[in-house]
Amino acid sequence: MKVRTDWWRRAVAPLAAALLLAACQATPTATPTAPPAGTPEPGQTPAASPQAGGEVEIFSWWTAGGEADGLEAMFEVFAQKHPEFQIVNAAVAGGAGTNARAVLATRLAQGDPPESWQGHAGQELSTYIVAGQLEPLNSLFDEQGWHDVMPATLIEQISTDGNIWSVPVNIHRANVMWYVPANLEQWGVQVPQTWAEFLTAAETLEAAGVTPLALGEQWTVMHLLETVLLGELGADAYASLWDGSGDWNSAEVTAALETFDQVLDYTNADASTLAWEQAAQLVIDGQAAFNVMGDWAEGYFVSPAGPNLSPEDGSFGWAPAPGSSGVFQWLSDSFILPAGEINREGALAWLTVAGSKEGQDAFNPVKGSIPARTDPDRSLYDAYLQSAMDDWASDELAGSLTHGVVANDAWKAAIDTALGLFLADRNVGTFQTALAAACVATGPCS
Ligand code: GAL
Repeated sequence: MKVRTDWWRRAVAPLAAALLLAACQATPTATPTAPPAGTPEPGQTPAASPQAGGEVEIFSWWTAGGEADGLEAMFEVFAQKHPEFQIVNAAVAGGAGTNARAVLATRLAQGDPPESWQGHAGQELSTYIVAGQLEPLNSLFDEQGWHDVMPATLIEQISTDGNIWSVPVNIHRANVMWYVPANLEQWGVQVPQTWAEFLTAAETLEAAGVTPLALGEQWTVMHLLETVLLGELGADAYASLWDGSGDWNSAEVTAALETFDQVLDYTNADASTLAWEQAAQLVIDGQAAFNVMGDWAEGYFVSPAGPNLSPEDGSFGWAPAPGSSGVFQWLSDSFILPAGEINREGALAWLTVAGSKEGQDAFNPVKGSIPARTDPDRSLYDAYLQSAMDDWASDELAGSLTHGVVANDAWKAAIDTALGLFLADRNVGTFQTALAAACVATGPCS
């Protein structure tokens, strides 16, 4: 299989052109690629002017327990530092941004950007970059000294052609399996180290009338798919599927998809109707044994708006998803600076807080994530988050599909369509063929 180096540009270009055209038609005077008046020269401090003020609309999908608490905590830091601005929380409910990103696309097409929006580091940003919807943030990084306190590998994931496009606020881990230790003991099962072990434990659990694996709506199924692929293939082969050097038609991928198919047999029948936090709640309630979910679930578990538990007292437990011990499947939430007519000073003030130690140390302990910065106050983080910090520092890294790292939006949408069909017909052969075709049509495969 040949690697195409320019694949992401070609994959997103038609989508980008359509969005740009729509934006120009809606606002004939908009010039999305030219920086608006007031753009600071490189190196110039974009501090708020004496007249600065007004509303600052922040767009995200953080509405559940934990994620909403984290956002609120960062808003509080912003309010202390910038009382001249008023935050407008434009969060749209729906985990992984499924609803929010559709709303955002409509707003951008109408030339109505919020002051900043949440985007994942990695390929997801290419949609906005190619459409000319973002302004580079190099001078903000320079003047805030962020090159010294954010990993270079992370900055690479938010950069193209020497431009930096977003401010990462956190690192999340996708490949986590959650459970309640006392329940596992009662049911006589152990935390599975491999998916084969999970399938064995699942038989015991089903016999005890317990759902082996709690699942939610379709994006959580994609999340499960990526963790099964990682666990069954290993980090290198998993990475090769995304950079075009691997073979989606291989026997190893067939076997991994067959495992995925079997795992789905042990999930709750009402999965498609449940949000991610409702699926996670099944574990806490003792109706299900395990849930594979990113560590925003930890933020939910400890949230006063959620179960209000503590990782220190053993009321919930965690482990790498089966087969992925020693691998940290990562993603990062970041905020961008839109090109277009916005309250630019307010947006820059927000981004400065989002990248600051104070902002990140307020946000992440409640969000269930670790800071993107390398200089956090570790004592603010609970036992789970401290373990995640250690793993992030020492584990092998793999990028998340569902949360924007490894595939551009067009490719991810093609995988999602194939997954939807698979959930209806459960035909592994057809699914694998569709996944291989998706990589050729919208990814780096040829
Ligand atoms: C992810 C996002 C997380 C969390 C999760 C559930 O895509 O990166 O921060 O919000 O969705 O909503």
